[in-house]
Amino acid sequence: MIKTKRELEQLSPYQQGKQTEEIKEEYGLSKVIKLASNENPYGASPKIKEGLMGVLEETNIYPDGYVTDLRNLVTDKYNIGENNVVFGSGSDELIQLITRAFLTKGDETVMATPTFSQYKHNATIENAQIKEVELVNGVHDLPSMLQATNDQTKIVWICNPNNPSGTVVSSNDFITFMDQCPTDTLVVLDEAYYEFMDKQHELHAISLIDTYPNLLILRTLSKAYGLAGLRVAYGIGNAEVIQQLDIVRGPFNTSTLAQKAAFIALEDTEYLNEVVETNKEVRKSFESFLDSIGWEYYPSETNFLLVSTPVSGTEMFNYLIKNGFIVRPGELLGYPNTIRVSIGLQEEMDELQTVIKQFKEQ
Ligand SMILES: Cc1ncc(COP(=O)(O)O)c(C=O)c1O
Repeated sequence: MIKTKRELEQLSPYQQGKQTEEIKEEYGLSKVIKLASNENPYGASPKIKEGLMGVLEETNIYPDGYVTDLRNLVTDKYNIGENNVVFGSGSDELIQLITRAFLTKGDETVMATPTFSQYKHNATIENAQIKEVELVNGVHDLPSMLQATNDQTKIVWICNPNNPSGTVVSSNDFITFMDQCPTDTLVVLDEAYYEFMDKQHELHAISLIDTYPNLLILRTLSKAYGLAGLRVAYGIGNAEVIQQLDIVRGPFNTSTLAQKAAFIALEDTEYLNEVVETNKEVRKSFESFLDSIGWEYYPSETNFLLVSTPVSGTEMFNYLIKNGFIVRPGELLGYPNTIRVSIGLQEEMDELQTVIKQFKEQ
């Protein structure tokens, strides 16, 4: 038997949900609607397709490892220096780089629970001590997270809006937290769903990186920009923090295709606004439906809702999948008796409502 890494013994590979084709076959369905991964049902900006044509001629050449064009766009957009940004193959990779760069055996890291699973997964691989702080009403309990932070704490993770609850922390609570957090503890603010947030709840975190040099913000193109399949995200923070990440980063970690698509997507603000507005309308109409049947959910500022179900989330998941809908059972996310439903197209959500009504009537 080969000698493996001890830290991996308690972990297993990420288990992705079943693919739609597999489900169609298994349940004899002609159509399956996936509302399980918080993807953008409208697709990416239509301008991207055309823009990528030229890039397809260059697949024999390595990408620009410095991500120059996209870097310039991002630094102009946020008025930051070129050393304040790092790009990754999705924020999944950035999370991996962060834990690899900062955590080692004996270090502590503080995170909410339930929250995005990759913080814990990657911290465990680096043999860090994980301190999890329960959400309160679905929201990060920042005062308790601060209490859990000590001299050994290298990273505190704040997922805002939080996956899977969809909730946000208040700007006041965030600033109070940052003011009291030890300045040598890295605070990672994962804003994967930032674009969907209500503008009055924005933390304006990027403008705070000089005030708090220990703050690192993650943004992704996978959600509102509809580029999940290309894998591209960025981190913004103090140059010294970014440099640590650049040391562990692979030289060509974002593809030419992903860089180009991200560039076009970030420029097409009109399309982004359309996606965000439509998502909001569809989410609201689904919320009204849930209100009408008395099913509770957390107030979400994202493209998903965590919905309480009268049966276990797994049972609800099984019922929905038989009827052609894939959602995430809360049991897999640390929230029993819930399902997490990504907001799809209006017509998809209308069909989902019909199926849920049938469930209630049976
Ligand atoms: C909170 C959060 N962070 C990060 C990610 C990873 O996104 P990506 O690697 O596609 O950028 C996700 C994906 O679901 C997420 O929900």
